[in-house]
Amino acid sequence: MRALILGGTSDANLLADAAARAGLDAIYSYAGRTRAPISQSLPSRVGGFGGANGLAEYVRREGITHVVDATHPFAAEISSNAVAACEATGTPLIALERAPWAKAAGDNWIEVADITSAAAALPENRARVFLAIGRRHIAAFSIKPQHTYTLRFVDPPDGPLPFPDVDVIVSRGPFNLAGELEMMRARGIEWIVARNSGGTGARAKIDAARELGLRIVMLTRPELPERPRAESVAEVMQWLGHRACLGA
Ligand SMILES: NC(=O)c1ccc[n+]([C@@H]2O[C@H](COP(=O)([O-])OP(=O)(O)OC[C@H]3O[C@@H](n4cnc5c(N)ncnc54)[C@H](OP(=O)(O)O)[C@@H]3O)[C@@H](O)[C@H]2O)c1
Repeated sequence: MRALILGGTSDANLLADAAARAGLDAIYSYAGRTRAPISQSLPSRVGGFGGANGLAEYVRREGITHVVDATHPFAAEISSNAVAACEATGTPLIALERAPWAKAAGDNWIEVADITSAAAALPENRARVFLAIGRRHIAAFSIKPQHTYTLRFVDPPDGPLPFPDVDVIVSRGPFNLAGELEMMRARGIEWIVARNSGGTGARAKIDAARELGLRIVMLTRPELPERPRAESVAEVMQWLGHRACLGA
């Protein structure tokens, strides 16, 4: 057997560690969005495959027998391509995908389905907004230039940002509650725009917002084609037939 792990998330990295510990023949695939991806213990490749057909071709060429889609839940294109490529090649596919966060008592969320609606949901009056979304999506917020935006990226921005009043934090997660509280208090954050990623790695900002009574514009997940899902590394390892070597 030879597995392809579509990665770029902390869950994918945990899976890579477990797969390497179990001696599994597997390749980890990065999109190549960050300049220096976290190194992990499997052989890796970087860059797009060229759509669903390119991914199917890669699966055939590399003799891939199992595909694990451990990409971010908002990475809809690669996830749809994985479904199509696995159907075309008859390759078993599983998604490693945490359940979305559920709204709890004290949460003040406005749930929206897309970035345009997220920008529209922000107030008209000037506010301090933490945009906890990928850099590819910030342009939509230029319709509300009155706000002070805090952005947090893994790499420094490589061009001008579309806001007059912006504060960039360059840092790689995961972040903890104490750190998020300090960051939000220091900047007087009033609103957060976040994606409902689920899991623990990105959760601290949601807990901090509840503690501080901040409003969150929460993007709900994109619709994806039906595919088998697992919520833990252990389940995926079991699916790959490696029950004995679970480490996570
Ligand atoms: N850790 C995080 O918080 C976080 C957050 C967001 C995204 N990410 C990661 O960043 C990557 C890009 O996200 P996105 O929202 O831009 O995805 P996307 O819109 O679904 O993908 C756009 C294109 O990028 C390529 N691609 C995406 N993921 C890939 C992978 N793991 N390996 C090889 N090619 C990949 C594919 O190109 P082709 O069509 O040419 O194959 C895909 O069609 C994903 O891998 C995702 O897991 C991580």
